[in-house]
Amino acid sequence: MSNDGNVKKLLVSDLWAMKREGKKISMITAYSYPQGLVVDEAGIDIILVGDSLGMVELGYKDTVPVTMEEMLMHIKPVVRAVKRAHIVGDLPFMSYNISVEQAVTNAGILYKDGGCDSVKLEGGSDMADVVRAIVKAGIPVFGHIGLTPQTAAMLGGFKVQGKSIDDAKKVVEDAMALEEAGAFALILEAIPQQLAEVITQKVKIPTVGIGGGPGCDGQVLVFHDLLGLFKRFTPKFVKVYADMYDAQVNSVKEFIKDVQEKNFPAEEHSFNMKNELVEELKKELGL
Ligand code: KIV
Repeated sequence: MSNDGNVKKLLVSDLWAMKREGKKISMITAYSYPQGLVVDEAGIDIILVGDSLGMVELGYKDTVPVTMEEMLMHIKPVVRAVKRAHIVGDLPFMSYNISVEQAVTNAGILYKDGGCDSVKLEGGSDMADVVRAIVKAGIPVFGHIGLTPQTAAMLGGFKVQGKSIDDAKKVVEDAMALEEAGAFALILEAIPQQLAEVITQKVKIPTVGIGGGPGCDGQVLVFHDLLGLFKRFTPKFVKVYADMYDAQVNSVKEFIKDVQEKNFPAEEHSFNMKNELVEELKKELGL
């Protein structure tokens, strides 16, 4: 995507350089124009318009029902807001699982119509052909392995992955297969920190952890989790930096009280017209 003014857009090559230079990569989700403005102004490196929007913005019980249309509706305003951060658009469940052709078509829609800088999809070596084809079409792909929420039912639920030696080897194999297929970075979700560290040493592309421990090249959190906006549940790997849910409830409560007690609007929130015009109007209306 193009540069805007003096702000330089972060490219895949910049993210690779960060790994080489040992600079940690910060990543967060965002789903709207105001959220895009906030996280870009804060200086985040990567924004993921994740299918987690299904839960935190649309009220679904998980990410499975999210559609391509919903993803596009949330990617576009973030793209309009952001000048610097690299924006990843998440491919929703069943938008890339049927065939390589379907995956390339839908990756193209998020990239071309949505305007994001890359796409993300979940899955390991099984998805290598899909990743290879999307990359061949010219679209950068972010991999996502370990706990993959879209197919959590196949993994025995929302559980830490890669705990036995065989499972750990499978996650390493997934990481290597995706790197070989051309993925430019990897999300490592809910795996033991030692395993994430080994993968981070083994692959040349950046790893970004969510429940992957401090050894990853970067860290990602969901916007609503970090800001305390989503109270339904908080996974162990989340650090909550604010209580914005309660802050919002309390602000709205104050507004309700102000209205009920006639403290709002005050003089400074109101407009005036000349007294003689008021009198004329009242006279005409018989008031
Ligand atoms: O959709 C999402 O927000 C994600 C993150 C949890 C990595 O995939």
